[in-house]
Amino acid sequence: MQTVNGLLMLRTALAQLRGGGGSPRSRIALVPTMGALHEGHLTLVRRARAAADHVVASIFVNPKQFGPNEDLDAYPRQLAADAALLEAEGVALLWAPTVEAMYPAGFASNISVAGVSDGLCGAARPGHFDGVATVVCKLFNQVQPDVAFFGEKDFQQLAVIRTMARDLDLTAPHVDAIIGVPTVREPDGLAMSSRNRYLTPEQRAAAAALPRAMKTAIAAIEGGAQVTATLAGLEAALIAAGFASVDYAVLADSTSLAPLGALGPTPARLLVAARIGGTRLIDNMAVTPRQS
Ligand code: PAF
Repeated sequence: MQTVNGLLMLRTALAQLRGGGGSPRSRIALVPTMGALHEGHLTLVRRARAAADHVVASIFVNPKQFGPNEDLDAYPRQLAADAALLEAEGVALLWAPTVEAMYPAGFASNISVAGVSDGLCGAARPGHFDGVATVVCKLFNQVQPDVAFFGEKDFQQLAVIRTMARDLDLTAPHVDAIIGVPTVREPDGLAMSSRNRYLTPEQRAAAAALPRAMKTAIAAIEGGAQVTATLAGLEAALIAAGFASVDYAVLADSTSLAPLGALGPTPARLLVAARIGGTRLIDNMAVTPRQS
């Protein structure tokens, strides 16, 4: 695996991977990350390997997606350990740009995807999804992958990226397909996340109440229970289990993420963000739509 941190080196390495001449061009899959890799990221890499000739992974702790009260400096950085994991998974090229390579002096552009960025996590983290959209747009332009993989764990992020790609024609030749990969979970159901490392053993045990309460709420909603009352019950169950607060618990349309007051005939999603100790956990699950 080759690691590059400047654009010129990236272009040279990509040209080599793609192969020139008359032979068919190799397919490249991109797995964008901020590092601190866990099994969820490695699952994205495995899916990517099955879909393309070569996998390019990126590691970039993107300052533009951190708010003023979010500790960018405290975000875990472990490039050597992450690189070893990626190499063992067969990644061909690691794009680990410096901040200067990604945002050279005078960088002045911003991509904002209205609507889908605004509610849920966007409400608590103003500017976060602009930062995500801006860096992912740059990554697509830099790598020009045939296919790109993102975790469904960050469901709103995936919706923002899909909307941006559609709106800005970031489809072929930049990227043919954006694939959402189902969330990888611990044996007790907790979604894998780089943030789980911040939980004390007691908080970690209590955190398993999140996926459990969500499944209970989904079964109730699919069974015809009233949505608002069910979501209030979910919030109460989380507080009773030891969560400090619930930022949101929302039933939403799977594509637009517009909140739904009742389950309809189109795909829906239950999305929750809740705090346990100082750690904010998010999760989401599919809700089977009502048969029309
Ligand atoms: O999900 C992440 O790790 C980041 O938000 C992403 C997509 C790599 C953009 O910085």
